[in-house]
Amino acid sequence: MTVTVTPLSAALGARIEGIDLRQTVTGAALAALRRAFRDHQVVCLPGQKISAANQIAFCALFGAADSDYKVSAQRTETDYRKGVMLVSNVRKNGVPIGNLPDGDIQFHSDGCHRDRPYLATTLYAIRVPRGGGDTLFANLTAAYDALDADTKARLDGCRIHNSYVLDATSRDEVPRPGAVLHEATHPLVLTHPDTGRKALYLNRLMSRWIVGLPREEGAPLLDQLLDHVERPEFIYAHKWTPGDFLMWDNRCVNHARTDFPSDQVRLLRRYTISESAA
Ligand code: SIN
Repeated sequence: MTVTVTPLSAALGARIEGIDLRQTVTGAALAALRRAFRDHQVVCLPGQKISAANQIAFCALFGAADSDYKVSAQRTETDYRKGVMLVSNVRKNGVPIGNLPDGDIQFHSDGCHRDRPYLATTLYAIRVPRGGGDTLFANLTAAYDALDADTKARLDGCRIHNSYVLDATSRDEVPRPGAVLHEATHPLVLTHPDTGRKALYLNRLMSRWIVGLPREEGAPLLDQLLDHVERPEFIYAHKWTPGDFLMWDNRCVNHARTDFPSDQVRLLRRYTISESAA
C-alpha cells in the first residue's frame, strides 16, 4: 500500500495513511514514517485497531518502549495490566483506571523533570468525548527560530530548571503534603540530535527558573518565553477520533490538553519512548 503524508497544520504535524500498525512496519514504509516524524514532529496514523503489544512493538522502532508504569490495582482486563498507562476519566469501583487527572493540562514536555526525558510519546485513542479533550501541540523549533538575535544570544548556554509533582495540571498547584517533587535541569536551547535544529525547551507546567540568571532578570524573561512558545502560529490542536494513533517528539514539541465534559468517556493508551541504552 502506498504511504501518504499530509501536513496537519502550518505549525507542525502530519497525517500518515497507508500503514497498518498491526503489522511490523519495515522498508519504505518505515523510512517514510521516520522522515515524517523528523520533518513534522507529530505524526497521526488514523484508523488503527491496535493492542498494547502492537503499540509497544511500534515504540521499539524508535527507541525503548517504557512499560514499567505503576498502575491502579483495580485493573484486571488485559489492556489494563501493569505497564500500560491509560489516560482516562473512567473510574472502576470509584478508582480512576488512568494515570493522569481529568480536565485541562497546561503545556509541558513529557519527562523534562527527569535527567533523561522521554524521547517521544505515543497516544492511541480508544474512546473520545464528542467535544473537548483536544491535545494541543506547540512547535518549539519554530518558536526558537522566531526569537530575535539578541534574545537568542542571551539564552545561549542557559539552562532551565524543571520540577513536577505527579498529577499536577497547572504550575500554580500547591503540592499535597508529602508529595514527591521531581526535578531536573536541561539546556534551555536544545539542539535536536537528528536535525541539528535548535528548540526552545521550556514549558508552563514544569519550568520554574532559568539557571544562571539573577531572579530579577530571569523571572520576567521566563514569563515572556512561556507566552512566546504558546503563540497560536506555533500550535496545532488535535481533535481526536477513535483509532487515531499519535506520536510526538518531546525534544522539540510541547503538548497540552483542553477540558472536556466529565460525563463523557475519554480513554487513550499511552506509551512513552526512551532513548535505547547505548
Ligand atoms: C498528556 O498530557 O500527556 C495527556 C494528553 C492528552 O490526554 O491528550
